[in-house]
Amino acid sequence: MQPKILFVCLGNICRSPTAEGVFRTLAAHNDLNVFVDSCGTSGFHNGEQPDSRAMFEASLRGFDLSRQRSSQLKSSDFTDFDYIMCMDNANLQNVKSAAPENTNAKIELFLNYAPNQPLREVPDPYYEDNFSDVFDLIETASLGLIAQLKSNA
Ligand code: 4NP
Repeated sequence: MQPKILFVCLGNICRSPTAEGVFRTLAAHNDLNVFVDSCGTSGFHNGEQPDSRAMFEASLRGFDLSRQRSSQLKSSDFTDFDYIMCMDNANLQNVKSAAPENTNAKIELFLNYAPNQPLREVPDPYYEDNFSDVFDLIETASLGLIAQLKSNA
C-alpha cells in the first residue's frame, strides 16, 4: 500500500511546503513509494507559492518547492490521508478539532520522528528567519518517518 502523508502548518508557505518537498525527494531517494501533500490550517495564503526564503534554502540543498501552491485543510483530507503530520502544537490542536470522530488518519507532531534533539515543534521561520535550522529539523524528521514507513512495509 502507498502511504499518503499530509504535512500541516499555519500558512502553508514555510514549514509544511518545505516538509512536502523535502519528504517527497528523500522518499524517492530511499525507494519509498508515497503520496505527499501539504496544507495550512488557515487559508491566508491560498494559491501562493512557498515563501521565497524557503525556496532559496531549498535550492541550496537540492530541493525544488517552486511548483507547490498554498491550500487550506479540508474535510476530505481526513479520509484521503493516512498520516497528518503537524508542525507545532497549535496546528495539532486545530487539526484534531477539525477531525471527524471516525477518522482513521494518524494525527501527530512531525518531530516525533526526530526524537534525538530537544525540540518537539518546528519553529515558525516566517518571523524568525531561521530557515536553515527549520530545514535541518525537517530533513531529520523526514528520514525518521521514512525509516518508520519502510519498517512497516
Ligand atoms: P508557516 O509560516 O505556517 O510555516 O507557513 C507562516 C506563514 C505566514 C504566516 C504565519 C506563519 N502569516 O501570519 O501570514
